[in-house]
This record gives sequence, structure tokens and C-alpha cells, in this order.
Amino acid sequence: MSEPRQILVTSALPYANGSIHLGHMVEYVQTDMWVRFQKHRGNQCIYVCADDAHGSAIMLRAEKEGITPEQLIANVQLEHSSDFADFLVDFDNFHSTHAEENRELSTQIYLRLRDAGHIANRAITQYFDPEKQMFLADRFIKGTCPKCGTEDQYGDNCEKCGATYAPTDLKDPKSAISGATPVLKESQHFFFKLPDFQAMLQGWTRSGTLQDAVANKIAEWLDSGLQEWDISRDAPYFGFEIPDEPGKYFYVWLDAPIGYMASFKNLCARRPDLDFDAFWNKDSTAELYHFIGKDIVNFHALFWPAMLEGAGYRKPTGINVHGYLTVNGQKMSKSRGTFIKARTYLDHLSPEYLRYYYASKLGKGVDDLDLNLDDFVQKVNSDLVGKVVNIASRCAGFIHKGNAGVLVAGDAAPELTEAFRAAAPSIADAYEGRDFARAMREIMALADRANAWIADKAPWALAKQEGKQDEVQAVCAAGINLFRQLIIFLKPVLPLLAADAEAFLNVAPLTWNDHASLLANHQLNAFKPLMTRIDPVKVQAMTDASKEDLAASQTDTGSAAPQGNGELVKDPLSPEIEFDTFAAVDLRVALIVKAEAVEGADKLLRLTLDIGDEQRNVFSGIKSAYPNPAELEGRLTMMIANLKPRKMRFGLSEGMVMAAGPGGEEIYLLSPDSGAKPGQRIK
Ligand code: 2FM
Ligand code: ZN
Repeated sequence: MSEPRQILVTSALPYANGSIHLGHMVEYVQTDMWVRFQKHRGNQCIYVCADDAHGSAIMLRAEKEGITPEQLIANVQLEHSSDFADFLVDFDNFHSTHAEENRELSTQIYLRLRDAGHIANRAITQYFDPEKQMFLADRFIKGTCPKCGTEDQYGDNCEKCGATYAPTDLKDPKSAISGATPVLKESQHFFFKLPDFQAMLQGWTRSGTLQDAVANKIAEWLDSGLQEWDISRDAPYFGFEIPDEPGKYFYVWLDAPIGYMASFKNLCARRPDLDFDAFWNKDSTAELYHFIGKDIVNFHALFWPAMLEGAGYRKPTGINVHGYLTVNGQKMSKSRGTFIKARTYLDHLSPEYLRYYYASKLGKGVDDLDLNLDDFVQKVNSDLVGKVVNIASRCAGFIHKGNAGVLVAGDAAPELTEAFRAAAPSIADAYEGRDFARAMREIMALADRANAWIADKAPWALAKQEGKQDEVQAVCAAGINLFRQLIIFLKPVLPLLAADAEAFLNVAPLTWNDHASLLANHQLNAFKPLMTRIDPVKVQAMTDASKEDLAASQTDTGSAAPQGNGELVKDPLSPEIEFDTFAAVDLRVALIVKAEAVEGADKLLRLTLDIGDEQRNVFSGIKSAYPNPAELEGRLTMMIANLKPRKMRFGLSEGMVMAAGPGGEEIYLLSPDSGAKPGQRIK
């Protein structure tokens, strides 16, 4: 037996200002399955992650919610941790980049880089918001595209014509934060001298650390010459102050990957068996893998190894890159209900269904992965329920009825048992190479063979014949042993199913090597259904609830902005609008005639609103603030009366009421002064 490997694994750190959605889950599920596989094989594999807590987006979001950034990131960390746990993503540690270990390591790495001459500084000129008194990142500047003239475009690229440009090229630039016209202002910035590492990176990126497609992309960047990287931001900024440079902060992307080290260091403090240096020193023999999406390759395959090299640490063994998630063949969409939050999924469906589906579609490449919801139902039901679990449910009853639940010794299917054993190295190889799709195909092919063999032996027919009891027991014992082998192979993907199967089989937690042995003369426990079929109604309920989340987030003045995985923060943060746009909104005084909870919706109230000449039905995500909706009846509020009606699971929503506040219990429905009458227009 070879020595167990020492492996440290990370997934990208999610931003601490938004919810985890099914797009994020591709990466966490992929990484978790790989880590579980390594542990299953007896390797020491440590999986760390953290919230990515710094940056201006988080600072501004906290400000908007009227809380401190520390409060915001603490709330989000709780939400993220429970989403991951409920998806069975089993981190050894989930930390935060806003932590002491990260401050120390970021400071140390920066000082080592500075002392080795890898930091430059010079003044740069940038847009500055004179009202907000802050420099503006590109995404906080909006204006007219210099190329095609489309208004309301972000500071670095045009969504209409695809042009990329500098924010200073935008016509009529405005701060997306205050609406003020930004002014150009100079300030001193610090740069990491990436070109110092050109030769090292040329070698490292071609040394088997990257998938071919990624290495080719990086080669293009290397060939076109590396630029110095701006690693500083001016106050106000939520992050770590740069040593000896008051008022200057590390750019969030400088301390984010150091957060991997910090999370591990935090874990080492309570795990005496782990030695930080053994994993991070230059001569470390431990393996280090980062799982990431393809949008953040430059940070992980250029900046990060260069920072590590420059600061005297080891470099990653591999950067494992995956593609994006599409749902039903398209980008996730809030209005189609396919922008599905992890929690919304979990409210309706078991995490293992999605883990299996993702596994069945995840190859070793960087291709996008499509979650086709019809195929999802079909595949899970057919493979897991129809093939795997079916083997146990077909055999268990006969063993309990005919032999008091004792599995007889012997092997009635020696060829099949041997074929299963012989398949193990290839399945392991697929897992190791992150070709989960191949692993699942090979496992399901074995399940097909087991089912065909059982169908051929037909224990249900034998059981009706005189004197065939021994044969029934022999066939069913073989069936259960084959089922056990399949569960061993599937355990990294389906840990709950495996735990339930272990309880039924009455065995200690199964490890990979157990696939080579058989149970004999062994008492089973009672059989309980191990997995139920996905009811398509639940999938529909999940997409309906995702539309409901959207309705709630539109009422909620908190952010509805998509986060993470490279998506731009599209929350406009109150940009200026033209008067005509405002005038087109039909704002009315509305009398709340009826207010009631909506069965099956956690966040919504159904409001019947009188706007003078007609009554409207409006669903509003304000239930958390008004748990006794009847108290709203008879009250006046304000509504947008000409919002396009939206079809929801519960009915048609014909407008929107107006409310303020950060959300949760703090939502305040707006009311006009006394004297206003239902139906009056608000001007
Ligand atoms: O793109 C993102 O969502 C980043 N928060 C990922 C950071 S990964 C690491 F470097 F910290
Ligand atoms: Zn344009």
C-alpha cells in the first residue's frame, strides 16, 4: 500500500454580500465530491473555504442596509454555512477573509514582496465621486457608450455593442452611487510587479498544473506581456490597511486567495495533527488544489502563484477549473424562475438529487453544465431510484421474510462480483481526474448488469416454488452484496444515501477498499425506502418560489443584485433617471381592502387594493414585517399601478406596493398623509 497523500483543497471564496445559488453549487458540490473521494480512499484531505468579505460592494451594501460591514458579513456567513451544510458540502473549515489570521498573512506576504522589490508605487488618475468622497471602481460609473451611444452602460464595457473602454471614455459619466458627475483625481497606488515572474509562470503554467484549455488561454496572456497589478484602494474601503501606508487598503483580490491560507491556519489552531508549515513551506510535499470557475483564472493561475513564489511559499499543485451553469439551456433567469437560490432548492428537494445530477454531467473540462429540469427528474428517478435503490428493495424483503434478515454466505454471482471489483480502478481513476460523468456512467452500467442478473434469476418467481428457498436466499444475498459495492462507489456523491444504506446493511462506515470484500452470514436491519422519486410538482414549486423570491426582493429595499462567480453587481445603487422615465410610472394611493397570508408562500402577502375605479390583486414580499396581515386592512398605501402584471404560482400580481427598510422585520409600508383618497395619482 502506498502512503496516504496529504492534500489541501479549496473552493473559491463566495462574496459575503449575497445568497448562494445553484450556479455556485456546481463548484462546491464538485469539490466536495472530490474531497470525499480522497478521504474515502484513506488519504488525508483537508477542505477549507471562507467568505470573501472585503471590498467596496460589501461596504456599500452594508451602508444601504444601515448596518456595519461586520454585521453584514456575520449574517451572510451564517446563511452561507447553513446552505453548504444542507447541501452536504463538508468543509473542514469555513472561515472569513476578515479575520486576524488573514490580516497577519496578508501583511506578511505584502512585506516580503515589498522587501524583495516586487512592489512599485505611482500616482494614477481615476474618477472620484465628489458627493460620496470616494474613488469609483469601474462598475460604479455609468454613462453613454463612446462607441454606439447606448445610455446607462457600466464604466468598462457596453452591454449593447460589446465595446470595452476606460471609464474616462464614457460620455456623460455619472456615479452609480450618488448620481453625481465624477471628477478626475490623482492618488498614489501600489502595484505588484507581475512581470518579475514571467519566466516562472511560463514554466509553472505548462507543468501539468492546468487543464490544456486553461493553459492555452494563459499562454495568450503571457505572450502578450504581463502588466503590473494594482493592489491598493483608497479609503473609504472595507479591508485591511496596507502596512506603513495609512489610508491605503489592500484590494479585495489581494487578500482573498490568502484567505485560503488563513482558513487553513485557523483550522490548524484547533487541530494539533495539522502543521501549517508542512502544507505551505516552499519544500512542502503536500498537494494543494484550488477549484474555481473559469472567470477567475487570471487571479489563480497568474497573480496567486507569483505572490506565493515572491513571498517564499509553495505554489499550487493544480488549479481545477469548471464552466458555468445554465438552466434549461439558458443563463439563469430571475423572471423564468431559474435563478434558484440554494435555500429555495433545499426547501423543495433533497440535496442528493442535485449532487448526483451534477456528478452525472461534470467532466474534467471547462465546459458549461446544463441543468435541464426535465432531464434532472428523469435521470435521478431512473438511475438512483430505478436502478440502484431498486436492487436493495427487490432483495431485502425475501431475506427478512425467508431468513430472518440474515444474509447467507457464498456468492451466487461470482462473475458479476468480479466484474464490479475489476471496475473499481477505472472508477477511481475517473474520480481522481474529476471525470465524475464517466464515474457515474461506469457505476450505472454495473447497476444495469446487477438488475439484469436479478431479473433473470427472478427471486420473486422462485419464492413461489417449493424447495427453492435456498436459491432465493443465495440470489438475494448476492443482490445485496452488489448493492453494497455500488454504494461504496457512489458514497462521495451520495453521503446520505450511503449512511442510510450502512444502517440497513448494519455495517460500519464503508470505505473504498471495502468493495473487495463480501458480507456473509450477516444480520441486516429492517429495510426502509432509501430514496423516493422526484415529483415534478416539486420542481415546479421550486421555480415558482424562485419567482416569488424575485417579487420579495423587489419589494425589499435590500439588494436583489446577483452576486459572485464573476457576475457584475448590477444593483444600480440609485442611478439618475430621466424625468420622462419617472413620469411614466403610474403611482397611486391605494386602500388595503384585504391583506392575507398566501398558503405555500413564506414571504408573500396577498393584498386586495382599491385604487378608486378598480380593485387590484398584488402579491408583496412583506410578510416577515407584517405577520398579522389583517392589521393592514383599512390602511392607505402607495402603489405602482402600471407595472406589467406578473403571473405567479398563486395568481396574477397586478402592481407593486411601496415600502422602505432593509428587509426582514424591518420593512415599512409607505402611507400618504391623512386626507389622501384611494386612486389619487402621486405626483
Ligand atoms: O469571484 C468570486 O466570487 C470571488 N469572491 C472568489 C474569490 S476566490 C479566492 F481567491 F479568494
Ligand atoms: Zn456600445
